[in-house]
Amino acid sequence: MGINSRKVVVVGCGFVGSSSAFALMQSQLFSEMVLIDADQKRAEGEAIDISHGMVFASPMKIYAGTYDDISDAAVIVITAGANQKPDETRLDLIKKNSRIMKSIVGEIKKREFEGILLIVSNPVDILTYIALKESGYPANRVIGSGTVLDTGRFRYELGEHLGVDSRSVHAYIIGEHGDSELAAWSDARVGGLPINDFCELRGHFDHDASMEKIFDHVKNSAYEIIARKHATYYGIAMAVCRICAAIVRDEQSIMPVSSLMQGEYGLEDVVLSIPAVVDANGIETVVPIELSEKELAQLKSSAEILKKIIKENS
Ligand code: LAC
Repeated sequence: MGINSRKVVVVGCGFVGSSSAFALMQSQLFSEMVLIDADQKRAEGEAIDISHGMVFASPMKIYAGTYDDISDAAVIVITAGANQKPDETRLDLIKKNSRIMKSIVGEIKKREFEGILLIVSNPVDILTYIALKESGYPANRVIGSGTVLDTGRFRYELGEHLGVDSRSVHAYIIGEHGDSELAAWSDARVGGLPINDFCELRGHFDHDASMEKIFDHVKNSAYEIIARKHATYYGIAMAVCRICAAIVRDEQSIMPVSSLMQGEYGLEDVVLSIPAVVDANGIETVVPIELSEKELAQLKSSAEILKKIIKENS
């Protein structure tokens, strides 16, 4: 059937899915958006609500559809599933959400979909692995939002700490989108300067204490937000939008999406976040940034945690 590069499908119209749909409408990336949810009325309501803002934005078709509407989409964004409760980790969601993911991918596989699967549901690394195996698609076409949001949080916190535009901060959170994620401090740079040099330019010299405080803040952001508003959805929706832009504009942008490791850092058969070149084909290539010995050990530990969960749930 071919691919309509201006068509996107969002599966799951809960907080994350509906916020992603709203952000995608505002982005003007697409001219057609299909909303799918187990609760058809929920999908219809979200489609009608967003459509009513069309006159204030730009024209596009948004409608509640079914899996029969997905074949020519460029991207299928999967957000369906339970989200974290205040005392839950993302990994606690695995049992329920892996069942939902297998059911959704099963429906997609019955159609001739040739685009990119973008997995957002948590635990995203595990569910991206499940979607990859269940779909049988090549690894480049099944990606997870991974630590794109965490990296956005990291760059924001560093920008605030250093009094500089966060877009001038280049630093990654990698590994699991979750409690075992790590900051690749050894690669962090601000305006081309190594991060510690820029910190000293701003009069900060207690690097270890600052790095620990900032990283903890980033890693625990979701818990802090959930404790206050019971869910997170705007930050992740904007991250989804950013990833979709790199795909549909064939940008070859580098971002830490979740993808299958195929030997990078000695890692195999595990999905986690490492910077990768993202374009119309999904993952063009993973970019194995240089890590310190400590960071490499942390990454391998994160990979082991994810592999153990996969083994226990396969
Ligand atoms: C968060 C969710 C998307 O980190 O896992 O906000």
